[in-house]
Amino acid sequence: MCGIVGYTGSGQAAPLLLEGLKRLEYRGYDSAGIAVLGDGEITVEKVSGKVAGLCEKTRDGAAVPGSTGIGHTRWATHGAPTDTNAHPHVSNDGRFAIVHNGIIENYAPLREELLARGYTFESETDTEIIVHLLEMYYEGDIKTAVMKTVARLEGSYGLGVLCSERPGTLFAVKEASPLILGVGVGENYFASDVTALVSYTKNAIYLDDGEFAELTPGGITVYDCSGRAIEKPVSRITWTVEAAEKGGYAHFMLKEIMEQPAAVRAAIAPRVRDGEIRLEDFDLTPEELHSFRKIVITACGSAYYAGCAGKYALESLCRIPVEVVLASELRYGDPLIDEQTLLIVLSQSGETADTIAAMKECRSRGAKVLAVVNVVGSTIAKSADWTLYTWAGPEIAVATTKGYTTQLVVLYLLAMDIARKLGKLEDDRYPALLYDMLRLPRLIQNAIDMNSGLPALAKKYHSSPSLFFIGRNTDWAVALEGALKMKEISYIHAESYAAGELKHGTIALIEENTPVIAVCCNEHLADKTISNIVEVKARGARVLAVAFREDRKIVAQANDVIFIPRIGTLFSPALAVIPLQLLAYYVARENGCDIDKPKNLAKSVTVE
Ligand code: M6R
Repeated sequence: MCGIVGYTGSGQAAPLLLEGLKRLEYRGYDSAGIAVLGDGEITVEKVSGKVAGLCEKTRDGAAVPGSTGIGHTRWATHGAPTDTNAHPHVSNDGRFAIVHNGIIENYAPLREELLARGYTFESETDTEIIVHLLEMYYEGDIKTAVMKTVARLEGSYGLGVLCSERPGTLFAVKEASPLILGVGVGENYFASDVTALVSYTKNAIYLDDGEFAELTPGGITVYDCSGRAIEKPVSRITWTVEAAEKGGYAHFMLKEIMEQPAAVRAAIAPRVRDGEIRLEDFDLTPEELHSFRKIVITACGSAYYAGCAGKYALESLCRIPVEVVLASELRYGDPLIDEQTLLIVLSQSGETADTIAAMKECRSRGAKVLAVVNVVGSTIAKSADWTLYTWAGPEIAVATTKGYTTQLVVLYLLAMDIARKLGKLEDDRYPALLYDMLRLPRLIQNAIDMNSGLPALAKKYHSSPSLFFIGRNTDWAVALEGALKMKEISYIHAESYAAGELKHGTIALIEENTPVIAVCCNEHLADKTISNIVEVKARGARVLAVAFREDRKIVAQANDVIFIPRIGTLFSPALAVIPLQLLAYYVARENGCDIDKPKNLAKSVTVE
């Protein structure tokens, strides 16, 4: 949940670290800090609040000279977001400074041990024990001290280490937290995310769990957990600097909403050749596919809701039972999963702790794992049996948009491909679905263009204390995502209900002027949802409907209507979600919220 960055070279480290932290801020933004080694001494500067405060305090880094350094932007877990709890943390003798992303689960007994040995603690963090362990184990050789230290740690850590006795040297350690090394010329870097590296280098080394690296301006040596130097491939970073910048938009979220036609095209186009879907990284034979008795989809947050929408396509086309289970529940359940289960793991970041744990649990029961992931080289992508990338490009806003729609279209491709191989599609159905699939990028663009009236609608709804989102079947799946978008960026209470369930309790909450957002894009069930619209209106609700262009029945019943282009039911969530994303965006803007960095949240949830 935190962002870490490190630099060693001949330039000034601080401005570079600050630049990197700005790019990583979406991972956590409670506090920020840097430690720079200059003239044999480590200088630490840290502030609670955003990276901008740190830039101001250090005069954009000019006040902290030195050419080796580490930086951190924090999402607080242990201890409040104060200056003292901010990273980097420094050893009592001032020799070591560290930054850490992750959680040390056994920090309490280690803290007791270190206190008993006379070490003093400044912060309430779990991290601080690491720097005191380093001091304790240091006998002139950092590598040995690092190895002895990490041998004592339980939990997850992307760790950056700076030592005053080794100018120009950094150590970076990875265990269950992302850590990438940037390979430069005469300078080297590490970061928890490639977005912090793209301005400086396109060459990266992805560390695996248990590995650590020694970085100097002249080179990088990677070691395995026993301290043996190992060869690691250098990969090319495909993301561009522009992709990781706002490019004239007021917010990353708006930019990413607008990027959806291109992102969805990038997810679909390379996988359709000669009128056929080719999933290069999941090219199973019909026999292999027949061996799966059921599909389980697991994920968190919006990725889970993408799974809910994808289930309809998979079940309807493939006729295989599909369960969608929250990763945080699956990991502690006693799931009925075995070698005849195909587990589909959805994750934009590929680093979500609950999702990783659920995947491990299911795999231990024999399931085969297909990951649908955006971030190349991420933990989930690397540990699955097969990985289908969503190719959405960097997603910086905490609220996912293009991450969600690209997950959806990959699930659609998958459903069509499996169904076809299993012989479950009638002859003319496959080309018809493929036709719709290939139109999706353009239709998403149309859905964006058709909704220029949303800022005005947002003014009508932004002061509501509570919003209800309703829909049936595929529409309900979209309603779930719409409500989450609204909650997380506008802080308005929003709940989603299967429209048919209203009368079983929730309708008691409907009063004069209660806003109800009704998704009516499932051509088979729209009439049923209209009945529910009529029911809530009879109790005073104000209804904003999402419907297909020219749907006169809806116009007659709803107070306001947002239109999307017409498409077959199965793929309709990919279009219906667009106005809901925009509505949440404009409502949040109307309420003056920090849209890209909503309170209490972080982009990548690497803690339980
Ligand atoms: O990176 P992941 O897709 O695994 O993330 C899952 C959720 O944390 C994520 O979708 C979260 O719910 C977003 N903030 C929703 O916009």
